[in-house]
Amino acid sequence: MGIETSCDETAAAVVADGRNIKSSVVASQVQLHEKFGGVVPEIASRAHIEKILPVISAAVSEAGLQKSDIDAIAVANQPGLVVALIVGVTAAKTLAFIWEKPLVAVNHVHAHLQSAMLAEDNLQLPAVALIVSGGHTNIYQCTSPLDLTLLGSTIDDAAGEAFDKVATILRLPYPGGPAIEKIAKQGNAGAIDFPRSMLDRESLDFSFSGVKTAVLYYCRGQDMKGADRVASMTEQEIADIAASFQTAVVYVLVEKTKRAANRTNAKTVLLGGGVAANSVLREALLQMCQQTKRRLLVAPKPLCTDNAAMVASLAYYKYIAGDFADLSLEAKATS
Ligand code: KG4
Ligand code: ZN
Repeated sequence: MGIETSCDETAAAVVADGRNIKSSVVASQVQLHEKFGGVVPEIASRAHIEKILPVISAAVSEAGLQKSDIDAIAVANQPGLVVALIVGVTAAKTLAFIWEKPLVAVNHVHAHLQSAMLAEDNLQLPAVALIVSGGHTNIYQCTSPLDLTLLGSTIDDAAGEAFDKVATILRLPYPGGPAIEKIAKQGNAGAIDFPRSMLDRESLDFSFSGVKTAVLYYCRGQDMKGADRVASMTEQEIADIAASFQTAVVYVLVEKTKRAANRTNAKTVLLGGGVAANSVLREALLQMCQQTKRRLLVAPKPLCTDNAAMVASLAYYKYIAGDFADLSLEAKATS
């Protein structure tokens, strides 16, 4: 059984043999954070406390199992909001102790990668994995589910964070990623030439604060002294900004992934994390993979955003490897 509370989703799932999802229960807190335009850690923590036991019970009963059928309790203990992670970690340690099950600690970002590969029968490795979420933009080389080498990450904003902040600038609803994708469908992606930061030629790192600031200046003027034009913009103008921004971000994500795949002779490209739900990104990566004769494995949409099936799935490989945690396990903000 996996438990996930790293941000604003309380989730529990039961997965057999790392692949077969028996149940996956997710209680989203989106409505609680909506009016603040972002996740408020203390509100997230309190909601996790309220939801964690009902969510765990639902995951066990929806799987049609008894607690005696569970082999191990796994939890994402890093990275994330410590006040949120601590709820899942405490629940997992308590259950492991009371039910007398082994405890497995899982890295949340590594778990996102499982969402892309858990259903695959014929996984060709090595792979490069692009994990794009609200908190992370990482490229890994993956030689086995447990062997991940970080090749690049963001030096400032994560891709999802940039989507969320640009959505706030454009006065679109929270969470910003889906809202930008929706309005961008009616926009002209070539309308505005927003910067596509590649950093230096060799770099596999990302930087998205430049494109976010470019959108801000476009809407408020270079010196930020102009009136906020967004209120008086037509829906078409907003759609054009959203589409142009999305194209700039997707371009960088795809180019860097291609760079990493070429450098490591990857046979497969894996895509996971909340931003992997974005259809434009999925399509652009697919085209790149077709051109470079690689297989693309994308997480199914319900498994792109935070869930516990990915936690239980990764935990299976750690369980097989005998990699267990003990009751001193702590929640950590970074990995
Ligand atoms: O993986 P996730 O649920 O949580 C973190 O671990 O951060 O990712 C949430 C992020 C948010 O920033 C959200 O705006 C973004 O994923 N997101 C999207 C889309 N759906 C969710 N970004 C772009 N397009 C989408 N369709
Ligand atoms: Zn996540």
